[in-house]
Amino acid sequence: MDNKQPLLTEYPLGDMTLKNRVVMAPLTRSRADNPGKVPNDLMVEYYAQRASAGLIISEGSQISERAVGYINTPGIHTDEQVQGWQKVTEAVHARGGKIFCQLWHVGRMSHPDFHQGELPLSASAINPNSQSFTPEGFKDTVTPKAMTIDEIKQTISDYGQAAKNAMAAGFDGVEIHSSNGYLLHQFFSKTSNHRSDEYGGTIENRAKILFEVIDEIKQHVPENRIGLRLNPSLHGIFGMTLDEESIPTFDYIVKSLNNYDLAYLHLSEPFNDVSDVPYAEPNIAKHYRPLYKGTLMINTGFNRERGNQVIADGLADLVAFGKLFISNPDLVERFAAKAETARWDEDTFYTPGAKGYTDYPVLDPT
Ligand SMILES: Cc1cc2nc3c(=O)[nH]c(=O)nc-3n(C[C@H](O)[C@H](O)[C@H](O)COP(=O)(O)O)c2cc1C
Repeated sequence: MDNKQPLLTEYPLGDMTLKNRVVMAPLTRSRADNPGKVPNDLMVEYYAQRASAGLIISEGSQISERAVGYINTPGIHTDEQVQGWQKVTEAVHARGGKIFCQLWHVGRMSHPDFHQGELPLSASAINPNSQSFTPEGFKDTVTPKAMTIDEIKQTISDYGQAAKNAMAAGFDGVEIHSSNGYLLHQFFSKTSNHRSDEYGGTIENRAKILFEVIDEIKQHVPENRIGLRLNPSLHGIFGMTLDEESIPTFDYIVKSLNNYDLAYLHLSEPFNDVSDVPYAEPNIAKHYRPLYKGTLMINTGFNRERGNQVIADGLADLVAFGKLFISNPDLVERFAAKAETARWDEDTFYTPGAKGYTDYPVLDPT
């Protein structure tokens, strides 16, 4: 292994040591195709194949039945699901890997079809005008129900229970999915949060739920085993629209996270070209590295060269790779060999079965 590549050097993450800085980004793959949404043997194989990553972040895993928004996504709220995940974490650990569980609530990106006709929950009753992937295929999203204070409290408590379950399932930690236009992001954004109570109105109020979620999870998981994901410049995707307070809101959140000893802050560079979008910050790592004192993980559009560079430039400590990990189970070995990487097939991202999931080959050693 070429130890000169920054991506391939060890990294002390809280009280753990990662064997390299190549992180597998959270990737929904919709293979939990059983009524209980329980992780199955195919998923065990898929994660085990990728255990040479310094850290794996699991696909988004719903914290409750109300949190579901896509077909065949696994949960982390029933005993059966915990037992299913246990097999995944054991297989990853047996291969010397580490794995965090991504805790997910989709909020208004869900559909009544998942909730016996009841409306999905969100900060406010504002339709994202997007699409939801239901058991009957893609359907237009609906206007969600604005959460009551009791529903907010219940959801915060569900995050805590899900985190507790994740640790019982043998995960090394949890990642709060406060990104990509899902429930917590819906609270942060002025365009999706019109609340007039303590959870809306000001930047501090719109961010409040996140800190309550962290404080709840802290009851069950050491702070240095809790990570958190943000996508500050998300625009025109998953119903999100940037406004003049978006980046100031994320600035406030990131600075406030300095009061915690979290495992990491996981940031995404913009998902699309935002150079002409008003209020966007096009350079996320550059903007946020000076604001955050802890471990910074960066994602979106990286390859081996750019990943090594962003670490060498001191702009990030860890790099998360998404699509490259779908098609290269041995991504770390390929990086070490400076070998070609295989291209992913979008058509099998979310389809059932092994095709496009566990059948991507590893590099031929010859
Ligand atoms: C098939 C697929 C599923 C994804 N599922 C999730 C998910 O469950 N949670 C999440 O935070 N991001 C999810 N993402 C976003 C990825 O984690 C990552 O941010 C994105 O792919 C950009 O990184 P990349 O350029 O390295 O692929 C998903 C992306 C893809 C392509």
